[in-house]
Amino acid sequence: MRNIAVLVSGRGTNLQAIIDAVESGYIKANISVVISSRKDALALQRAREHGIEAIYIDPQEFWRDKEHKEEKRVEYDKKIIAELEKRNVDLVILAGYMLMLSPYFVQKYKNRIMNIHPALLPSFPGVNAQKQALEYGVKYTGATVHFVDAEMDHGPIIIQDVVPVYDDDTEETLSERILEKEHKIYVEAVKLFMEGKLRVENRKVKILK
Ligand code: GRF
Repeated sequence: MRNIAVLVSGRGTNLQAIIDAVESGYIKANISVVISSRKDALALQRAREHGIEAIYIDPQEFWRDKEHKEEKRVEYDKKIIAELEKRNVDLVILAGYMLMLSPYFVQKYKNRIMNIHPALLPSFPGVNAQKQALEYGVKYTGATVHFVDAEMDHGPIIIQDVVPVYDDDTEETLSERILEKEHKIYVEAVKLFMEGKLRVENRKVKILK
């Protein structure tokens, strides 16, 4: 059985979708560990409730030392990597993880780190993607699962799905509609990975039959 690690910072609804898919046998893999950059993340609690080991790794030091930010970022990532290596992790899933990964981390787990973004990349990268979409006035937005590279919200796209934007949408209603799609496509992407059906060729991800 292959091993998954999930990196989180918040409420963990995407984590929950993946836990459910693993428990039902839809995804054939083991969630070995959940690692949070925030102590009070609801995601940690969700993991523990399902008997999954959940660890908080404090990023304070790396945040405080502005002068050596990049070195500190690598130091922080090495702490995470040590936990991944202990558990022979095959796939790293970012699920509402609010820190950028260092190029060191990304290189070490090349094409083995996934992220979910609440917009149709390359539109609206970064934070508040739903708000950006509303303010821009797009009629459709959506969700994207992609492999992670050293740039933010940038790596090869695995799956996207479209969500309509309605005239009376607020950030909350739109986010809610996008979230439903996020949960579906994230589970699909992880399943495809575990079945060996994703082939990355430069920027393109081919889904094998
Ligand atoms: C999601 O909207 C995800 O796309 C973004 O952060 C949010 C995390 O939500 N990267 P949750 O913690 O999975 O509920």
